[in-house]
Amino acid sequence: MESAMTLRGPRVLLRPWRTDDLAAFAQLNADPAVMEYFPSVLDTEQSDDLAKRIQAGFENNGFGFWALEIPSVLPFAGFVGLSVPGSAGLPFMPTVEIGWRLCQQAWGKGYASEAARVVLAHAFTALKLPEVVAFTTLTNQRSQAVMQRIGLSYAEGEDFMHPALPADHPLRHHVLYRVKYEDWLKQQ
Ligand SMILES: CC(C)(COP(=O)(O)OP(=O)(O)OC[C@H]1O[C@@H](n2cnc3c(N)ncnc32)[C@H](O)[C@@H]1OP(=O)(O)O)[C@@H](O)C(=O)NCCC(=O)NCCS
Repeated sequence: MESAMTLRGPRVLLRPWRTDDLAAFAQLNADPAVMEYFPSVLDTEQSDDLAKRIQAGFENNGFGFWALEIPSVLPFAGFVGLSVPGSAGLPFMPTVEIGWRLCQQAWGKGYASEAARVVLAHAFTALKLPEVVAFTTLTNQRSQAVMQRIGLSYAEGEDFMHPALPADHPLRHHVLYRVKYEDWLKQQ
């Protein structure tokens, strides 16, 4: 059986993080286009910290945001994976979210959706989660398109103001998407 730390799709490899991913991760987190829908870009220290927290998450939960490799194309393209949302005050907890962040070079090729489908299958078949959610700011259409492509549905009436952002912040309005195991199964 394949280790839970490594998942594969036709073109994607979801693998444990390596020390040599950190420089590429810092570059991605410093890119204003990648971080357009986040409060700010990250500096190298913040990026390294995030990578450490992601790795620690795997130890605590047995899942997390895997490092995404596109074999023979990009040794590190970003991350796709599962996480227990960390912000206090989110209205839909407890749950597990699916999320992604890819470098610009890797956009527009279907890699995020392909990797996310692999992760969702792992969430339901190996981890046996009853439901997976995803959320993003209202205006992040690219991310919502991934959610829709992999079979999540917009949770009508469950938009929320992100509790970690100040009241007047332009990114505060978030949308929630959900998929239950039974509904995912029907789509396979
Ligand atoms: C959100 C994000 C992962 C989406 O990436 P993406 O490349 O648009 O998503 P996909 O992998 O699903 O690729 C779909 C696109 O690839 C195209 N494509 C090209 N070749 C393809 C192939 N072989 N198979 C499938 N799609 C292909 C599709 O037509 C589609 O193009 P379109 O956007 O012009 O319609 C990316 O924009 C990102 O990392 N953004 C910054 C971080 C972020 O916002 N994260 C989410 C926070 S909640």
